[in-house]
Amino acid sequence: MPIFEVDNLHLHYLTRFGAKIPAVAGVTFSMEKGEVLGIAGESGCGKSTLVNGCMGLFIPPLWPTSGNVRVDGESIMGRSPKDVRKNILGRKVAMIPQGAFNSLNPTRKIKDQAADMIVSHESNVDKKALYERLRQRFDLIGMETEKVLGAYPIQLTAGTRQRCVIGISTLLDPKMVIADEPTSALDVTTQKAVIRMIFDLLDKQIFSTMIFITHELPLLRHVANRIAVMYAGEFVELGTTDQVIFDPRHPYTKALMGAMLSAEPGQRQRKPVAIEGAPPNLAYPISGCRFAERCPQVRPECRVNKQEIRIVADRQVRCDYAE
Ligand SMILES: Nc1ncnc2c1ncn2[C@@H]1O[C@H](COP(=O)(O)OP(=O)(O)OP(=O)(O)O)[C@@H](O)[C@H]1O
Ligand SMILES: [Mg+2]
Repeated sequence: MPIFEVDNLHLHYLTRFGAKIPAVAGVTFSMEKGEVLGIAGESGCGKSTLVNGCMGLFIPPLWPTSGNVRVDGESIMGRSPKDVRKNILGRKVAMIPQGAFNSLNPTRKIKDQAADMIVSHESNVDKKALYERLRQRFDLIGMETEKVLGAYPIQLTAGTRQRCVIGISTLLDPKMVIADEPTSALDVTTQKAVIRMIFDLLDKQIFSTMIFITHELPLLRHVANRIAVMYAGEFVELGTTDQVIFDPRHPYTKALMGAMLSAEPGQRQRKPVAIEGAPPNLAYPISGCRFAERCPQVRPECRVNKQEIRIVADRQVRCDYAE
């Protein structure tokens, strides 16, 4: 049985003027235990919206439209925020959000914030045992435990704060982790330390299944088993990491890979392909293929026919003409 299933998920933002922005439009995928799925796509394509929906936590103006998300066979849709916070977040699915190192409470020590994570999910926790448990976990994940647990966030570097957030979010051994650009806004050396830590947690089986969102495609090459490419709220291609990176079939994936990999050593002979134009404005209904306006291989039919997922060369592609 898959550990995580997303079934035809549609999500929208409701603007102050009552308009519905369908930011996620029919995403379907499932994950097996132990799998790492990378999600790539330009800024604004809906990656963060999708993973927020995958947590079952809807904070206005984001609303579920339709579809389902199941963790370990259990649906997390249509539940109260309280229920989701107590029973899903942290325990089943842990999120490392974008810019997480700023999400710590500046007025409380790391050990107290870490303790909150456990106390809010478990009853009758013995305080002494609790701190011992925190120390053990922070030791295990390679933190300078004594220094870090006793510190206020401001006393730590951004990288250490980010590693604390990751350590705290995974304290309850969640079934899966969703990391939304966990290294963006950090300098390169710090990024490496954070990535090393995530690998280390995977190695130590603190969690084994992960969705990893990043702009750094070269990074996904080393972390992900599969990659989903997202465009304007839809998955346009989903395949193994090698398929998507080295043999992309959707015109958007081809353009994205060309643009992203051209700067890498060994890839210099590849000409960078700038992706002309901009994604469609989701506030207006779109007929036909969402990528049509920018597609180098566009045909008249593409502007009329909505594109559905089909299997091309053993992976999912949302293009009638991909081969
Ligand atoms: N609060 C909001 N109200 C209305 N629209 C929103 C809101 N937040 C995001 N959107 C829209 O939803 C779409 C998806 O945004 P989202 O933040 O999920 O993209 P993303 O892929 O995570 O981008 P990035 O790579 O920059 O993090 C965008 O078009 C964005 O303008
Ligand atoms: Mg985002």
